[in-house]
Amino acid sequence: MRNSTIAGVGHYVPERVVKNADLVTMMDTSDQWIRERTGIEERRWVDAGDTHTSMGLKATKMALERANMEAKDIQLIIMCSVLSDHIVPGSGCFLQAELELPGVPAIDIRNGCSGFLYGMSIADKFIKTGVYENALIVGAEMLSTSLDLTTEGRGTAVIFADGAGAAILKAEENPEKGVLTTHIHADGRHAKRLWVEEPSPAHSPRISEELLNREGIWPYMDGKFVFKNALVRFPEVINTALEATGYSKEDIDLLVPHQANLRITEAVSKRLGMPMEKIISNIQKYGNTTAATIPIGLSEAWEEDRLNDGALVCLASFGAGFTWASALVRF
Ligand code: UT7
Repeated sequence: MRNSTIAGVGHYVPERVVKNADLVTMMDTSDQWIRERTGIEERRWVDAGDTHTSMGLKATKMALERANMEAKDIQLIIMCSVLSDHIVPGSGCFLQAELELPGVPAIDIRNGCSGFLYGMSIADKFIKTGVYENALIVGAEMLSTSLDLTTEGRGTAVIFADGAGAAILKAEENPEKGVLTTHIHADGRHAKRLWVEEPSPAHSPRISEELLNREGIWPYMDGKFVFKNALVRFPEVINTALEATGYSKEDIDLLVPHQANLRITEAVSKRLGMPMEKIISNIQKYGNTTAATIPIGLSEAWEEDRLNDGALVCLASFGAGFTWASALVRF
């Protein structure tokens, strides 16, 4: 049976480091609160000139190099991001232009923190069914410019950050190796528990001076509700992947979870009885970069030689939508 394997991964984070102490100068918060409640010590925020496209391109170049491929080889692009460089079209087309791939399809996915795994699931199906030989999946996020950097916005401003990660999936004629299973879910009943309401085309004109005073232009998150749901969905969707393949949690060599909150990752570790040494955790230095956290985590794991031949790696996410997802990959 034809499978798809992760041939290369890459990442890019902006150079600008924003420490918790920097946020204290903008809003009523503290280094201690942020560390204790989220685990975050610092994060990267974009500088002038960075875009979803530019960061995604840098991550893609690293992934291509590691896959021993050239941009001209890419047959499908899937761009996953909460926002886009422009309202229309999605950043996938801008990335495609930068890669000089006219004619190659570019899909944009806006499924929050689960975006990358949604993208991987779609790419995997295209490859398994023989439509494409490979696919580029990019998670790129530029959230810092949309945060309310006053005390009113501190519930989200201290968490979200910028960066990009990329993975290249390639056809593999070995059923034992590659993406063994993917699972994607959503529950739109909770869409408004983590959302940005405005600017919405529901208003005419969509943009007005009055809009600037509406609370809805800032991200809203019902943190506790999101937290509780994440604690249920992470173990659940990981178990779904294990059940689908017949593996047990002890078989997993490395878990790369979405980086939402260090307390969530630690709780998942406890619930699954999986030691933290087997779980990627880089929220301390990057914050929550939504769709980019998993490919950034994979790329760092690649650098640290943790994706060795034969390693069984589980990927899992939970976020806005609500959406949640998992994948099991044999390297
Ligand atoms: O990636 C997408 C999915 N996202 C998540 O999974 C995030 C899930 N949620 C969380 O990570 C946590 O709920 C947060 C980190 C967002 C918040 O932590 P919490 O322990 O749930 O705090 P809280 O919202 O219940 O707030 C507790 C207190 C409140 O003060 P009072 O009402 O007790 O006086 C907040 O006003 O902490 C206050 N607070 C802050 N204080 C200092 C909220 N944000 C801050 C802040 N600095 N940044």
